Amino acid sequence: MKNILITGSSGFIGYHLSLLFLKKGFRVYGIDDMSDGYDVKLKQWRLKELKKNKYFIFAKTNIASEKSLENYFLKNFRRNKIETIVNLAAGTGVRKSTLFPNSYYQSNLIGTLNLIKLSRKYAVKSFVQASTSSVYGDSKEKSFKIDSETSKPDSIYASSKKAAEVLLHSYHSLYGQNICILRFFTVYGPCGRPDMAPFIFTQAAINNKTINVFGTGRQKRDFTYIDDIVDGIYKSTKLKGLNYLNLGNNRPVSINNLISIISNLSCKKIKRINKPSTPEDVFYTSADISKTKKIINWKPKTNLEEGIRKTYNWHIDNIKWLKKIRVS
Ligand SMILES: NC(=O)c1ccc[n+]([C@@H]2O[C@H](COP(=O)([O-])OP(=O)(O)OC[C@H]3O[C@@H](n4cnc5c(N)ncnc54)[C@H](O)[C@@H]3O)[C@@H](O)[C@H]2O)c1
Repeated sequence: MKNILITGSSGFIGYHLSLLFLKKGFRVYGIDDMSDGYDVKLKQWRLKELKKNKYFIFAKTNIASEKSLENYFLKNFRRNKIETIVNLAAGTGVRKSTLFPNSYYQSNLIGTLNLIKLSRKYAVKSFVQASTSSVYGDSKEKSFKIDSETSKPDSIYASSKKAAEVLLHSYHSLYGQNICILRFFTVYGPCGRPDMAPFIFTQAAINNKTINVFGTGRQKRDFTYIDDIVDGIYKSTKLKGLNYLNLGNNRPVSINNLISIISNLSCKKIKRINKPSTPEDVFYTSADISKTKKIINWKPKTNLEEGIRKTYNWHIDNIKWLKKIRVS
């Protein structure tokens, strides 16, 4: 049986990725610090679901703590025992990163350093790093090519993710480790993040709440469905060398449009308050995925209407306990 270590396994993407690797017959080692970047009840729910599978082995561990992580590896792994590490653990959310810059750098940069060092020591065959479309900053390009400018990030979150990319480049240069850096574009889906628009708007529609819309709502995001993202991560674990790939839908949609889709599904008009836009938020994102198609034969299969319908149905199926989740 092959072993994989997934960090941030109680997070949105970590949960879905763990399910996928379990389905593929892997033993999944999941770690997460269960921190309260958003309502922990959601992370606990995901963890409880994952623990139903006996091949999911969880430890509450902070990747930013070198000692704890070393002890964790010592206890659980021998050399050559882990096939792959997928590093999803991170401080997430662009606006919040302005308030907690140190904590974001600890998790997103120092955490990555701790993991890549151990990855080498334990002869892990491939290391996949979650990066983000935010590294492209407020780009004016129609779609962001993988080699586009990434040295002008607009948030602490984006700069910490870019810093981790640069660090991993050095590790590859020095030691030849197989590293794949994946830049995700606005991921959404069932059991998503309660600090992101698709979750907040869906809950508002169901519970007749008012939403805040930052800026005019004409800003666009390249929303990408979770099943497509985890499929792309799975494919990228097989790559050799150092690779950078975009995982995005290549079909940006405005926030106003997203609100309309959710309104139509719920047959309700969502009440909104317009707020000034924030400096961390960029106006537009769109992934150029030509390289991703070529290298891992990946393209997104789920359009926004279908993905939002699946997401909405999940919210309806879980309506009762979701009422207790703090959205922010
Ligand atoms: N969701 C998106 O739209 C999106 C877009 C671009 C990039 N990403 C990246 O994908 C990854 C996963 O994102 P997500 O949406 O699932 O976020 P998430 O916040 O739901 O998941 C991250 C998980 O990491 C854990 N974590 C944070 N710091 C940790 C630490 N120091 N040690 C151990 N665990 C820690 C958190 O508790 C959380 O469960 C992140 O690296 C994020 O930056 C996400």
